[in-house]
Order: sequence, then structure tokens, then C-alpha cells
Amino acid sequence: MLVTGATGRIGRAVIDLLTDQGVPVRALVRRPESAAATLPATVEIVTGDLTVPESLDSALDAIGTVFLVWTALPQTAAAVVDRLAARTQRVVHLSAPHRTPHPFFQQPNPMAALHAEIERLIAASGLDSTIVRPGMFASNALLWWATTIRAEGVVRWPYGAVETAPVDDRDLAAVVARTLREDGHLGGDYVLTGPESLSQAEQVRIIGDVLGRPIRFEELSPDEFRRAAPPASRPAVDMLLAAWDAAKGQPAYVTGTVSDLLGTPARTFRQWAADHATAFTGSRTGVG
Ligand SMILES: NC(=O)c1ccc[n+]([C@@H]2O[C@H](COP(=O)([O-])OP(=O)(O)OC[C@H]3O[C@@H](n4cnc5c(N)ncnc54)[C@H](OP(=O)(O)O)[C@@H]3O)[C@@H](O)[C@H]2O)c1
Repeated sequence: MLVTGATGRIGRAVIDLLTDQGVPVRALVRRPESAAATLPATVEIVTGDLTVPESLDSALDAIGTVFLVWTALPQTAAAVVDRLAARTQRVVHLSAPHRTPHPFFQQPNPMAALHAEIERLIAASGLDSTIVRPGMFASNALLWWATTIRAEGVVRWPYGAVETAPVDDRDLAAVVARTLREDGHLGGDYVLTGPESLSQAEQVRIIGDVLGRPIRFEELSPDEFRRAAPPASRPAVDMLLAAWDAAKGQPAYVTGTVSDLLGTPARTFRQWAADHATAFTGSRTGVG
């Protein structure tokens, strides 16, 4: 099977699980030298770029199933899906819960539009498919909060009372690995969340609990948050602000899909935080 997004959060975790299980894996990467230094030695590394569809041809040689992670611009999605349909049988697509009737997931945004378009292309292509739709990744807490927690013991953030149900990246990767390996997931459409609805302020409090020291939560207004964001991240910031605003005053959407598919309970946010506590301590900068 071919794993795209192999150097990213989920693709990398999927590769580790598959190689641990002895499954032969090929990884599509843009920078083979740096990827080779970090991916398991048994992984076959091929160079390719989703924005250059013809670069996928050799990567797809003799591949039956593809894990598709798309963070690139949408322009080449149709040509890439055409190539997948011509050369492989199955695709597992890492999408988002944009069809779920909860206001958090119903705000129009470019990422939801991109995933909807890729799903439409896959459905029209005749490929066998499984769509995996995670809610908020628990690991967003590293990207969002670790730097100021380490430096100042504080999180400055909007919508502290808004609830989400962060899904542990390891559970998400385990579901993906299972759908890649096992028969029986054709046509599967899985919305994955963590097991509990927690406000953002509670999530920060839980991180403080596992670190054994309180973390101050300083509520920002949406405008303060927007002004503090680097210009390049404004689209993502606007997408998040719209989702949080829409979800005010109600619990997060929670599914039991992780435990249904894996046969073990979904990991809690507390468990995730405990297992990543060192990332929130010390003087490191630039967690990513
Ligand atoms: N974060 C969330 O809470 C959340 C929730 C629901 C869904 N999602 C979805 O999850 C996906 C992101 O997954 P992730 O967090 O694992 O990604 P990630 O950590 O940001 O990694 C992105 C991966 O895609 C690769 N990539 C980027 N552009 C590429 C291109 N043009 N050609 C080939 N590979 C390319 C990157 O490779 P390089 O090393 O070469 O850059 C990297 O391996 C997105 O589609 C997002 O919508 C995220």
C-alpha cells in the first residue's frame, strides 16, 4: 500500500503501525533524504508531489490501496484521483466531518470544500473507498498551546467555554491502519471523535493537572485572537473562529466509532496529555 502525508502527523503514525504489523509499505514523500532519516528502514520511499500528478506514476506501480492525505491546494485533485483510479483499486481518504449535522462542523470553509470535492471525485472515479472523518486532533494542543505553556504557564485563547471532543492521533491512525489492512471497510464512512466533550479551558486545565502545575487560561476576544495570528494562518484562524462561535453553548459531537472499530475504548484527552507531558515542559521552542 502507498501512504501519502507520510511525514505528517497521521501518515507517520499509520506507517509506524503498519510496519510494526509487518505490512509492506511505500511512502510518498517530497523530500526523500530527510524522510529516509526519520521513517522506519523497512519503508520503501518514493518521491512524488500531489501538485504534480505525473510524479505519482512510479509511486503507484503495483499498489492496491492508497491512504490519501491532502493538505495541498485543490487544483490537481481531479488529475490525482484519475491516476489513482487508473492504477489502484482502493483509497482510504483522511477527510473531515463536514457532513455531520453539528454546528461545529457545518461552517463553510475552504478545507471542508476541498474534502467534499475530493470525496465527489473519488465517488465518481469508481474506486473502492473508505472515508475517515476525524474531529479535532488532540495533538492540536501541541501546535496551539505548548509554546506558551512551556514559556509562561499560560494559554491565551478565545472561546474557552466551547466544547470539543479531541480524538487521539494514535486512535485515528489505528483506525486508518485497520481500514487499510482489513477487508470489510469498502464504502465505510467513519466519523471519529474522542470519548468526551470537554471545553477548551478544561482541556488546558487537564494539561496542567498532568504537569502538576496550574496553567492560566486567559480568554481572548475573537478580534484579539485574529490580530495575534500570523497573516499566513488567517484562513485557518477564521475557519476555527467560525466553528467555535457556532458551537457555543452545546456539547461537542461524540461518536463511539473508535471503540466500535478497534474494540478498545477511545483514549481520553487526559491520557493523551499524560503521554505527551514532556512536550509541555522544559525550554524547547517550535513544537510541530
Ligand atoms: N488538525 C485537525 O484537527 C484535523 C481534523 C480533521 C481533519 N484534518 C485533516 O487532516 C489532514 C492533515 O493531516 P496531518 O495533520 O497528518 O497533516 P500534516 O501533519 O500537516 O502533514 C501533511 C503531510 O502532507 C504532505 N504534503 C503536503 N503537501 C504535499 C504535496 N503537495 N504532495 C505530497 N505530500 C504533501 C506533507 O509532506 P512534507 O513533509 O513534504 O511537507 C506531510 O507529510 C488535512 O487534510 C486536514 O483537513 C485535520
